[in-house]
This record gives sequence, C-alpha cells and structure tokens, in this order.
Amino acid sequence: MSDSRTNIQRRFDGAYGALYDGVVSRPAGLRVVSIGFGFDTVLPEIPRLVRAAYADAPTQPLLDVPCGAFGSLAHGAEVAREADVVGVDLADVMLDRARTRIRELAPAFSVQPVRGDALELPFDDESFGAALSINGLHCLPDHARFVQSVARVLQVGGTFTLTTLVDRGTRAGRGFFTAMRRAHILPITPPAQAALDAMLDETGFDVIEAVDGRMFVARRLVRR
Ligand SMILES: C[S@@+](CC[C@H](N)C(=O)[O-])C[C@H]1O[C@@H](n2cnc3c(N)ncnc32)[C@H](O)[C@@H]1O
Repeated sequence: MSDSRTNIQRRFDGAYGALYDGVVSRPAGLRVVSIGFGFDTVLPEIPRLVRAAYADAPTQPLLDVPCGAFGSLAHGAEVAREADVVGVDLADVMLDRARTRIRELAPAFSVQPVRGDALELPFDDESFGAALSINGLHCLPDHARFVQSVARVLQVGGTFTLTTLVDRGTRAGRGFFTAMRRAHILPITPPAQAALDAMLDETGFDVIEAVDGRMFVARRLVRR
C-alpha cells in the first residue's frame, strides 16, 4: 500500500474531511473558497467539469479516483448514464459518507464505492471509458504513479478530467503547502504546472481543455 490507512484516516477523518466534502459538493461553497485562493478560476468550474466527465462515454464505466465522499455525485447525478460509476478511496470514513450520499441522491445509474489505493487501482487494463479526479492528485505521495495508474485502466480514446493544486513557486503558496503537509493533508508538495503537463503528455494524454487558476489547474484529457 502506498500510504498507511491510518495516515489517510488521520488526514480525512473528522473536521477536515467533512468541511472539504461540504464545500466541494456545493457550487456556492466552491465560489466562496475560490476567493481564499486568490479568486482561483478552477474551483468554480468543478461542477461543469464533473458534469462533462459524467457525460463522457455514458455506456462505459466511469472511474472517480480518489472519490472521497462522492462529492462529484452532487454535480453529476442528473446526467443520463447507462453504465456504472465506480469510486475508489482508501479512507473508510469518506466511503461511509459516500454511501450516504449515494442513498440520498439516488442517481438513475449504479454507483459503487470501492476501498482501494489510487496508486494500485484494483481493475483490469482498459476497464473504463472515462475517469475523473477532483483535487485528489495533490493528496497522493507519487503523482506520476497515479497518472500511470489511471492511464492503465482507461481505454484508448477515453477521457480523464483532472483538477489539482499546483506549485507556482510563490512564497504564499509554499507557506500554504508547508502548513498542509504539517496537517497531514498533503504528503508532498504539489507538482509545478509544467511538470504536471509533461507527466500527462509522457503518460499518453492529449489535452482537450485547460483551465489555469491561481493555485489549481483543470485538465480535460484524452488517452491516445
Ligand atoms: C481532497 S479529497 C478529494 C475527494 C473527492 N475527489 C472530492 O472532491 O470530494 C482527497 C481524497 O484522497 C483520498 N486518498 C488519499 N490517499 C489515497 C490513496 N493512496 N488511494 C486512494 N485514496 C486516497 C482521501 O481519503 C480523500 O478522500
């Protein structure tokens, strides 16, 4: 396992996980928090990006990783899909919240929360027609391995919709990342934007949409 479950639980149990989930599942919450990140332009785009990912390859399974409490469902539940949505996360507390959300939103398609490691996804090669990762990459201890793990389980021509913090090298950003590492939210510093884009290209992804914010980036990608 890439990181002990105890460490993950410590990060996402309790107040932080609940607060994060409450914000990311609400468009108004995302707009308010974007102000704290210097009017970041990516966070308010998350509902639209999630709906786009849910609408991709609707007859093929969609992977949401790490799914957390399935905040994506708050935006994607109304999208017409024939195939399942599968979410992977390591934290039991987030998966419990996910099960509650699935019951409450009761989408017309099946949603399966699975406990697993994002760096060692427990699926066959090319199992999914689309993949989604909202603010998960920066929570993982090996960014390149995560991107490779997603690419392996994604079909050629499948889309990967990703948002993540990036390191822009500013003093304020570095201070924030240090505090987040001390709070065990971030295992390592997020990638620089150029390093992230090079990693995605080397792994076999072409960019179909890019949004560059003050501290976050969004990429809509297609696997070649
Ligand atoms: C900031 S949350 C994002 C969750 C979700 N995408 C959302 O936006 O609501 C990050 C999630 O990563 C999960 N996580 C951290 N390390 C993980 C790993 N190695 N494998 C799977 N999930 C992991 C945490 O449990 C947490 O739920």
